[in-house]
Amino acid sequence: MSRVAYVNGCYLPLRYAVVNIEDRGYQLSDGVYEVCVVRGGRLIDEARHMRRLARSLGELSIRWPMEPSALAVVLREVVRRNRVRDGAVYLQITRGVAPRNHQFPPETVKPSVVVTARSVDIAAADKTASEGIAVVTTPDIRWKRVDIKTVSLIGNVLAKQKAKEVGAAEAWFVDDEGYVTEGASSNAWIVTADGVLVTRGANNAILRGVTRDVILDLLQKKGLRFEERRFTVSEAIESNEAFITSAGNLVMPVVRIDGKAIGSGRPGALSLELRRLFFTQADQSSLWWSPSSIADGPNLSDK
Ligand code: PDD
Repeated sequence: MSRVAYVNGCYLPLRYAVVNIEDRGYQLSDGVYEVCVVRGGRLIDEARHMRRLARSLGELSIRWPMEPSALAVVLREVVRRNRVRDGAVYLQITRGVAPRNHQFPPETVKPSVVVTARSVDIAAADKTASEGIAVVTTPDIRWKRVDIKTVSLIGNVLAKQKAKEVGAAEAWFVDDEGYVTEGASSNAWIVTADGVLVTRGANNAILRGVTRDVILDLLQKKGLRFEERRFTVSEAIESNEAFITSAGNLVMPVVRIDGKAIGSGRPGALSLELRRLFFTQADQSSLWWSPSSIADGPNLSDK
């Protein structure tokens, strides 16, 4: 079965799914994206992803390409046409097609929309989780608004490639003061010797992950101790456990940082438990969120 993509109003086999070379996403990486988990054919935490999308669009003054409720239909249709039961749906919105010029094009230029979906092998991911992954640290050379989920990912691309070249699955960015910001495509967490979960507070230095927020809600509900604060690479290496969170990985234990074993060198019990519990806290309701709840929803940076 050929995969199907939605491109500016059309559902097309992937080989025909193309964008204009003057699309500002292609020319200037002037666009935003979301990746939403699909389980049992349903979108997980859709409302949170849509609120973050609204914020990203707002921060860049890109208008919605269509009503949020229409976009919800497109996301479901792409999932359905690709017969994705377990996987992810990818959504990208750019400022549209216009002759290359840095300043914004006229208001008449419509934003472009691309949606794709793919299946994931849950058993393979669970096997990776049972072994844990290695992480390598790298200087955070990215721009100062990584809280916006833009398609400008070259810093992330270079970090991920560095990880691959040393046999690691993820790279953790480190700021100028020696503190971990986040992963190349995930948020970074540690568990201290006294069992406190720590992840960096959500400000301009990290992307506020939906998975991160779900885990924070879970910790609160379970009465587990956590702190949103910075931690250094050496604190991470001396910690009991480490893990990453993202729509792609959910909760993935980290067993080595820069070649040094974390804790016992095996996935931590708390990390594995949070991975198991993720879907008990995630919103699987497929709730029909209303456009007004997106427009008037809380600013994600406020929480
Ligand atoms: N990445 N930080 C960065 C830099 C990310 O790229 C991501 C997700 C996250 C975690 O966000 P969430 O929990 O909402 O997935 C944090 C996606 C999955 C990607 O680029 O493929």
